[in-house]
Amino acid sequence: MSFNGYNLLAPYYQFLVKLVYGDLLFTAQTYYLKRLSSTDRHPKIILIIGGGTGQLLLFCLKKFPDARICCVELSEGMVKITKTKLNLNDTARIDFYIEDILTWSSSIKFDFVLIPFVLDLLIEKDRKHLLKIASKNLSASGKILVTDFRKGNGIFQSLLIGFMYWSFRILNATQNNSLPEYEALFASTQLSIEREKRFGKRLLNELVVSYELTPCNTK
Ligand SMILES: C[S@@+](CC[C@H](N)C(=O)[O-])C[C@H]1O[C@@H](n2cnc3c(N)ncnc32)[C@H](O)[C@@H]1O
Repeated sequence: MSFNGYNLLAPYYQFLVKLVYGDLLFTAQTYYLKRLSSTDRHPKIILIIGGGTGQLLLFCLKKFPDARICCVELSEGMVKITKTKLNLNDTARIDFYIEDILTWSSSIKFDFVLIPFVLDLLIEKDRKHLLKIASKNLSASGKILVTDFRKGNGIFQSLLIGFMYWSFRILNATQNNSLPEYEALFASTQLSIEREKRFGKRLLNELVVSYELTPCNTK
C-alpha cells in the first residue's frame, strides 16, 4: 500500500488538525493512558501504529519514562518531523519502522498497542488484518486502544467527514470513504470492548470515539 499523501501533508498536518479539531483528537487518543493511576501496572513496551508527527509518542515518552516505544509509520515525512522533536535520551527508547503495518512483522508482545486515526483510512479487509496484527502482538494483560472518528448524527458532521474523505482521496491519503462499524469489526476480529468513550461537543458532538479492547480469548 502507498499513501504518498502523508509525505505531502506532513509539514502542515499538525497545524490543520489543530485548526479544525483543536485539542479534540489528542484528548481522545490520550484519555485512557492519562487515567492510569500510580497503582496501575504501567506499560514497559508500547506499539504506536501510524503515529503521524509524533504528538502521541511525545505524550507516551513523558507519561511512561521507563517504557520502550515502537513506532510503525508508513510515511517517511511524518517520521522525519517526529524526529526533530526528540532529544537523544528519547531516541534511545524508540524503535522507528518506516513500514506498512500490514506487512510488518514482529514477535514482540506489547503492553499497549495504540491505533490512532488509522482504521478509518483502510478498506475492511485491511482493518481486520491490522486488528489481528495488534492482537497477535499483545502481551497477556495487554490492551489495544483504538481512537478514531465515528459516524455522527448531524448534517455538519456528515459534511465534515465527507469533506475529509474527499480531500484525503485527492491527496492519496486514504483507501476508504466510509467510517468503520466498530462493534461489528471488533466482534469479527475476536476483540472485546472493555471501555468506550465518545468525545466532542457542539458541532463536533461525539464525533470521536476511543475504545479499550482486549482479545476475547484472554477472558
Ligand atoms: C490520519 S493520520 C493520523 C496521524 C496521528 N495518529 C494523529 O492522530 O495525528 C494517519 C497516519 O497513519 C499512517 N498510516 C496510514 N496507513 C498506515 C499503514 N498501513 N502502516 C503504517 N502507518 C500508516 C499515515 O502515514 C499517517 O501518518
